[in-house]
Amino acid sequence: MKIKIINHSLIQHKLTLLRDKKTNSKDFREYLDEISRLLAFEVLRNIKLKEIEIETPIKKTTGKILNEKINLFPILRAGQGMVEGFLGVVPNAKIGHIGLYRDEKTLEPKKYLFKFPSDAKKESLNIILDPMIATGGSAIEALKILKKEKIKNIKFVSIVTVEEAVLKINKKFPEVELITCSVDQKLNQKGYIIPGLGDAGDRIYGTK
Ligand code: PRP
Ligand code: URA
Repeated sequence: MKIKIINHSLIQHKLTLLRDKKTNSKDFREYLDEISRLLAFEVLRNIKLKEIEIETPIKKTTGKILNEKINLFPILRAGQGMVEGFLGVVPNAKIGHIGLYRDEKTLEPKKYLFKFPSDAKKESLNIILDPMIATGGSAIEALKILKKEKIKNIKFVSIVTVEEAVLKINKKFPEVELITCSVDQKLNQKGYIIPGLGDAGDRIYGTK
């Protein structure tokens, strides 16, 4: 299984609070936002830099600044809950939206929207955001949608996933870097992650 698990103590702490069924929507959104910000820090650790000349009040010198365009692709709805956290770290990132929902019976992903910034087709870093990878169906569909548009250099950032889904994605898209906070045990019969955190979209938006 090829996936980077971010084990930072602060993330594990907030993830536990996120999982707790007693956490209400307001707090859920806040924890998700804080985790996303911490994740962004790790995910962007090796982003490309370029050297420039500057002048401090004391002397001319050189320094490094970001040299890579970043596009964020939240998978709606739940991925939207991770956007502000990432923007807190890279405020100039552009946003594409991938609208997918899982059919409750078949668990197959259904696409209802795809809009992307034109920068995504140029040299850029493209980060898909979705807190949950369960069967992997939505993640694979999202990757297919981006690949069809010839969008490359993709990272997929989730909060909770399961091994079976990671293996599927690794097999179909070996070049995509996967990042998560936890690989949980398995899925239940309804396709929910055990122990997971429930339905992320519903918990963010207070639906159901
Ligand atoms: C959730 C989640 C993922 C998907 C994961 O979205 O945010 O997109 O399920 O499940 P999968 O790996 O089995 O495809 P959902 O379809 O519930 O839509 P929502 O965010 O609008 O609630
Ligand atoms: N989608 C969710 O939001 N949660 C799960 O456990 C599985 C799919």
